[in-house]
Amino acid sequence: MFESSNGVSRLLRRLCRCAIACILTLGFAQSFAQGNAKKGEYVAKAAGCVACHTDTKPGSIPFAGGRTLDTPFGTFYGPNITPDRETGLGSWSEADFRRAIHLGERSDGSNYFPAFPYPSFTGMADADVRDLWAYLRSLPATKQASRPHDLRFPFGWRFLVTFWKWLFFAPGPPLATAPTGVTVSRGSYLVRTLGHCGECHTPRNFLGAPLSDRMLAGAKLAEGRTPNLTPTRLKKWTNGDLTKFLKTGLTPDGDVAAETMSEVVLNTTNQVTPDDLAALILYLRSLTPLPEQR
Ligand code: HEC
Ligand code: HEC
Repeated sequence: MFESSNGVSRLLRRLCRCAIACILTLGFAQSFAQGNAKKGEYVAKAAGCVACHTDTKPGSIPFAGGRTLDTPFGTFYGPNITPDRETGLGSWSEADFRRAIHLGERSDGSNYFPAFPYPSFTGMADADVRDLWAYLRSLPATKQASRPHDLRFPFGWRFLVTFWKWLFFAPGPPLATAPTGVTVSRGSYLVRTLGHCGECHTPRNFLGAPLSDRMLAGAKLAEGRTPNLTPTRLKKWTNGDLTKFLKTGLTPDGDVAAETMSEVVLNTTNQVTPDDLAALILYLRSLTPLPEQR
């Protein structure tokens, strides 16, 4: 009798331990599978998501959409990406989000306009996409209808983006986790994938596709020219000059960066860690010097 009750309690204890282990493992797997919102917040900063998805009116709610984006093809409005069910991403799954970021596709298979810089974000590491999704899910749900874009004929036809993608879009390459350290590969990831610096600093052809042989060599935007980021121009700047500019928007001559770039400084380059800033600069230094505009 004594023996068997001892056996039962041992069994119970073992079951208990097993259950705790199971809960811990599941919890760990779950938190892993669900991503880390804190890390995702950092990815969102390094990628400058807030800029295009927040109205510029004072008091606007971050990520609730409404930002005007003027392009040669018309005006885009950044949509609401808070978790509101009706007007935001409330009904989305992580797979829907991954598809939008990596492939520029909606869950119904239609295409996003490349004003959403998925041609850069397509290289985002799986772990970063998962964390970014966890972060977006953690935002307060804000009900605010996204405005329809106001595009010039015929650019408003979403299906035309299919042809654009055939010509100019290559998804990937797939990457499980992002490169780390003060390395050229981390810098490349910060500049080309997350920071999408080429969206403004690489010239485009008449269909809006970046010219790969002029990568980061400076471009003409509606608001004026962006400078060449290859060593041709930046060799005159010390690492200290570049760091100061990317943290404050002040050039070595004491000028203040124009509005578009000061927004990038405010939302992105001023927000990344010192190591990431160093990696970013290391990458810019490693680029092939390209001549100023031909
Ligand atoms: C340069 C501006 C810009 C930046 C930066 C940007 N987006 Fe967007 N995003 C857009 C535009 C414009 C659209 C709408 C595209 C369309 O309608 O085809 C969009 C669409 C989206 C959508 C689809 C929303 C829907 O309702 O279907 C998601 C999700 C999204 N963006 C997330 C992000 C995330 C996350 C980031 C940062 C990693 C980001 N965006 C950075 C401009 C931007
Ligand atoms: C939304 C458009 C836009 C994006 C995105 C952007 N830039 Fe810029 N950048 C500009 C403009 C415009 C200027 C010129 C500012 C001026 O003349 O005052 C500029 C200037 C600069 C300069 C100063 C160079 C010089 O010679 O004067 C550096 C460095 C720079 N950008 C780096 C970056 C990096 C790194 C990224 C990505 C993290 C980036 N930019 C993303 C628009 C952009």
